[in-house]
Amino acid sequence: MKRILHVAVLLTAASAAYFAWTAEVRAQAPQAKGKQAGSAGTESGWAAFQTRCMGCHGNAAVPAAPSPEQIRQMTPERIYASLTTGSMKTQGDALSEDQRRMLATFMSARPLGSLTEGSAQSMPNHCAANPAMTDPSAGPAWNGWGVDASNARFQSAKGAGLTAAQVPNLKLKWAFGVPTGLSQYNQPTIVSGRVFLGTDTGYVYSLDAKTGCVYWSFQTKAAVRGALSVGPVKGKGATKYGVFFGDFRTYVYGLDAQTGQQIWSTRADDHFIARITAAPIFHDGKVYVPVSSSEEFQAGNPDYACCTSRGSVVAFDASNGERLWKTYVIDEPKPVRKNSKGVQLYAPAGGSVWNSPTIDTKLNAIYFGTGDAETEPAAKTSDSVMALDLKTGKELWHYQIQENDAFMGGCGGGANKSDNCPVNPGPDLDIGNSPILKTMPDGKRILLTAAKDGRVFALDPDKKGALLWMTNAAPPPPPGATGFARLGGIVWGGAADDRNVYYGLSSGGMSALKLTTGEKVWYTPLAKGNTRVNNAAAVSAIPGVAFVGGSDGVLHALSTADGKIIWEYNTARDFDTVNKVPAKGGAINSIGPTIVNGMLFIGSGYAVSGGNFGNVLLAFSLE
Ligand code: HEC
Repeated sequence: MKRILHVAVLLTAASAAYFAWTAEVRAQAPQAKGKQAGSAGTESGWAAFQTRCMGCHGNAAVPAAPSPEQIRQMTPERIYASLTTGSMKTQGDALSEDQRRMLATFMSARPLGSLTEGSAQSMPNHCAANPAMTDPSAGPAWNGWGVDASNARFQSAKGAGLTAAQVPNLKLKWAFGVPTGLSQYNQPTIVSGRVFLGTDTGYVYSLDAKTGCVYWSFQTKAAVRGALSVGPVKGKGATKYGVFFGDFRTYVYGLDAQTGQQIWSTRADDHFIARITAAPIFHDGKVYVPVSSSEEFQAGNPDYACCTSRGSVVAFDASNGERLWKTYVIDEPKPVRKNSKGVQLYAPAGGSVWNSPTIDTKLNAIYFGTGDAETEPAAKTSDSVMALDLKTGKELWHYQIQENDAFMGGCGGGANKSDNCPVNPGPDLDIGNSPILKTMPDGKRILLTAAKDGRVFALDPDKKGALLWMTNAAPPPPPGATGFARLGGIVWGGAADDRNVYYGLSSGGMSALKLTTGEKVWYTPLAKGNTRVNNAAAVSAIPGVAFVGGSDGVLHALSTADGKIIWEYNTARDFDTVNKVPAKGGAINSIGPTIVNGMLFIGSGYAVSGGNFGNVLLAFSLE
């Protein structure tokens, strides 16, 4: 495998890239934590950087060494070159080839080779013309993470153009391969008959929904996991509609949706390890951006000045990128004590936001879930639903689902356990799903959030988040279960129609709960035989059908009436693609399908907690 890795750096032919891809996937298999692991940015890369590089980089005593943040600005190719043939060759020689590659991809948050191969210029399937885009709000659309600002992930009959009776007739229409892609974890946005797709290589694409021909590509500075949103912009000349998103290095972009030209770009956070992993939401001329971090993974390393990152939500003017407000989940970290190695430690830290915010137009509020704390005592706003004033960012209320949840990767034992670790580590119950805001048939409103242990909380948005009901949607975990299996519950979120909410479970299967009472309506296991399948990917729904993917790569469609399986499709295989890039599906995680105008779109290949990596976007239709 090592030889393949080495050779792959030198070759750029598509077949070589494909081998590099499979080899790299094995070399980089991330650990089971939904938040930031993935091809572009692994825990091993982070650990290696701390122990091997931070003695100089980030050390005030070595001012000539670029800061970790400056290295993050570099391309993976430049970092790799410095370690193999450049000024860091001595340091690089002490590393294995795998470690050099991991450092280069981790620091740049992009795979090697992506910069040259990803461009639409080098694709054979250009659209013949680029006609003026129709109004994104006029036609059928799945715009951003949750179809609309409520994040209910429910596509209306009109928007779907697909009935429950037709779902079993869905057929693969086209596939698109992401060049050098390792993890297809971006949920495609469909507006004005166009697909807007982010990738782990940092390229963003605009494709034609019907044919998969490519209109344009845009090269960002890092991986783009969060779904893209399209909306009108003002005062930018010929530009009518913008497309908005964030990357793994906290850059936020506004592009001309028609041409892919950048209108503006800015940073949402300047912490070294901060990331944007979830979808910003576009609403009324503004973009609201969630900020997460990958500090939690290896901050237990005693050489690391743990911990200084904190989650936030930042509001920008969508037309020019001007920052309107920024609200942190927790207070500013302050020096607290030194660890046994004499390294200064800080607290509080944590509260990452890795879900897409929800907008309440009635109360002018914005809701989102927060992650666990990294330091003790855990902030009262960790593992919470937070409500902010849409205009000012001022906190309105929060509802904490788990107290005292200071958690850090590797602190359960093993090499990484140190006195950086929380003394009493919590259960790791970050909220990774977007709150769902629903108005029930009787006019009452409900705000739903869910936990990794399967608990679903219904809050009253009109009573400052007062609890209406709480139900555990997951079957009890098997005795002695660890990791995701121990928690068994909900990570990326559900979909709600007027009667029920549907959640996929990391222990496998899907549950339906009644909106009014939280009562369980049905539970359908989805695993085949004894293999454990993780179905924690986000659910998408249309009238009568709820869809969920799994770590086995199978996309299931279930009848919302009784949970019966009405259609399934296994994406874990090779595909011929419209852009002639060798492509493969793998696990489906984090994202749900987007269903628009008689078509269904799903990316496959995010092996964040089981299954295989992949680099494919699939489009289905009835023809
Ligand atoms: C002994 C101190 C030291 C260590 C350890 C060290 N570096 Fe450096 N590094 C430097 C200095 C000093 C420079 C700037 C000097 C130069 O560019 O010639 C630098 C420059 C770099 C550059 C910029 C090269 C460019 O193209 O401008 C990269 C990338 C880099 N280091 C990566 C690493 C990585 C990754 C590690 C860990 C494997 C590492 N360094 C370990 C001191 C160090």
